[in-house]
Amino acid sequence: MCGIVGYLGKNDAHPNIIAGLKKLEYRGYDSSGLAVLNGSLNIYKMSGKVEDLCNYLQSQSLCGQIGIGHTRWATHGEPNDINAHPHTTRRKDLALIHNGIIENYKELKEKLEAKGHSFDSETDSEVIVHLIEDIQDTYSCSLEKAVQMVSKKLEGAFAIIVISQQEPGKLVAAKRNSPLVIGVDDGEFFLASDKLAFPRRFKKAIFMEDNDIVTCKQNGDLILSDWTGKLKAPIIQELGDHIINDYEKGEYEHFMLKEIEEQPQVIKNCLQGRIDVNYLEPKLRGIYENEVKFLQASKMTIVACGTSWHAGIVGKYLIEKLAKLNVEVDYASEFRYRDPIINSSDIVVAISQSGETADTLAALKMAKEAGAFTYGVCNVEGSAISRMTDAGSYTCAGAEIGVASTKAFISQICVLGVMAIQLGLLKRKITREEAREYLQEISQLPGLIEKTLKSKGDIQKIAQKYFSASDFLYLGRGVNFPIALEGALKLKEISYIHAEGYAAAEMKHGPIALIDENMPVVVVANQESYKDKIFSSVKETKARKGKIISIVKESDTLISSESDDVIKVPNCSDFLAPFISVIPLQILSYYIALLRGCNVDQPRNLAKSVTVE
Ligand code: M6R
Repeated sequence: MCGIVGYLGKNDAHPNIIAGLKKLEYRGYDSSGLAVLNGSLNIYKMSGKVEDLCNYLQSQSLCGQIGIGHTRWATHGEPNDINAHPHTTRRKDLALIHNGIIENYKELKEKLEAKGHSFDSETDSEVIVHLIEDIQDTYSCSLEKAVQMVSKKLEGAFAIIVISQQEPGKLVAAKRNSPLVIGVDDGEFFLASDKLAFPRRFKKAIFMEDNDIVTCKQNGDLILSDWTGKLKAPIIQELGDHIINDYEKGEYEHFMLKEIEEQPQVIKNCLQGRIDVNYLEPKLRGIYENEVKFLQASKMTIVACGTSWHAGIVGKYLIEKLAKLNVEVDYASEFRYRDPIINSSDIVVAISQSGETADTLAALKMAKEAGAFTYGVCNVEGSAISRMTDAGSYTCAGAEIGVASTKAFISQICVLGVMAIQLGLLKRKITREEAREYLQEISQLPGLIEKTLKSKGDIQKIAQKYFSASDFLYLGRGVNFPIALEGALKLKEISYIHAEGYAAAEMKHGPIALIDENMPVVVVANQESYKDKIFSSVKETKARKGKIISIVKESDTLISSESDDVIKVPNCSDFLAPFISVIPLQILSYYIALLRGCNVDQPRNLAKSVTVE
């Protein structure tokens, strides 16, 4: 979490940094700051949003062509002005920003304090800048040499950028287990946690590897080395234009609504090149290039967190049904700390929008070490997970800015749906004709979702009726069970209403005690299978005066007849049911959060990429 940027070039650093920080606010938004070098070092930082910092800076004269900026998601120390980055030392001639967690900071801090260093903040990050000063004082070495030596002492995760008044005209950065990308453009450098933050003119980038140290100089030189000082040839990659348009909110008030409405196009992008015109062959390259691995696998384990974990459960239902392959779905955070049984014949799939979630990365490392074949289902191209896996499929959702995941989820289950069909064919568990039917169905999704989105107005009215409830239950069965979990997560994360998702039949084993006339119960019921069983759950809820909001097919009469409010979605097969039923749940959460006056795109306490444990 936290977003960091650094600029060095021929233009004023300050506006470039602020623009970059605004684009990185999805990573954390509890405090922000920047430092600009212009003969002397000027540092400004405060709690609050980047907009607050921006307003404050209007009254300052800030010129200088080199600078760094930070937007924070607090880990060590509450979000206040002192704990905000950049950090410096008593001499105030060094400024440093950090994303990550330094696990051995206490021990390092004690040693520095014994040497006379005193600390202002409660952060782990401040220790790094003191270490740099200490090493420069001891060895009279350059900033890059000091950063190199310091990075050897640090345990944990870090992406740091540092500038020094004593060595103007350069900016030094290093990283391990936290992302850092260097944008290059005609003598200008823009470093950021995410390429999204780059100004439009930056079309080329270098993705830093773990333990890389880079020095960017005002004369246009870029020196890349590993932490032993061994020089490396930078690999410069061209960036596509799409990274720029995804960041625009356009006519929408919130990214979340924009991203919900983008879903038909997202599915088209995701399916492009993966289904041929005759619907004969699903073509996930990561699978057809590794067919033997998939044929020999006796088990697939999916590791993920949050919404991506819910997508994993949808994947389990689809893959087990079509390919008859045993699929386990694990929270990455649990997988990494228990003793999971991983065989070299296993396939471990990591699902992650950001491709940098710390727990998912760690689970993946474990799976690799155990010799499993690893597969990534990631959205962000070039992300750590996508680089670490043996093969994978990008979900092609474009940049997702709203903290609540919507279009990334639909793209994840879309990839998993195609994967299920492809594996089913490969393992001869479905016929070509059946595969063709599934592929034809999945190709209908953009149109069906388009139609589902038309219920927005009706859902808004339902939100009006229930927005002041303090608790919600979400029930679903089969492949709609993970959709119930996802609906509950969407509601709680953006509206702060307590919500729980359950497999409908589990209700009578405990949650039914919660039901009374104040409890809205969202029943996800747009599939044919389990219809009668879901109906029983509805009756049981009604008998206890619960309020039923049902998601049903257009043709449904049974469940609608017992519902207080009905959201009708287009008729579709059970295979497509979760793709459609999740849409009204996203819209319902959005409108409820809006009515409660919540910050939909930047909910409290959250950040988009969870790069810490
Ligand atoms: O980037 P990832 O998909 O690995 O992120 C996992 C979760 O942090 C994420 O899905 C989170 O639960 C979302 N905020 C949910 O909307």
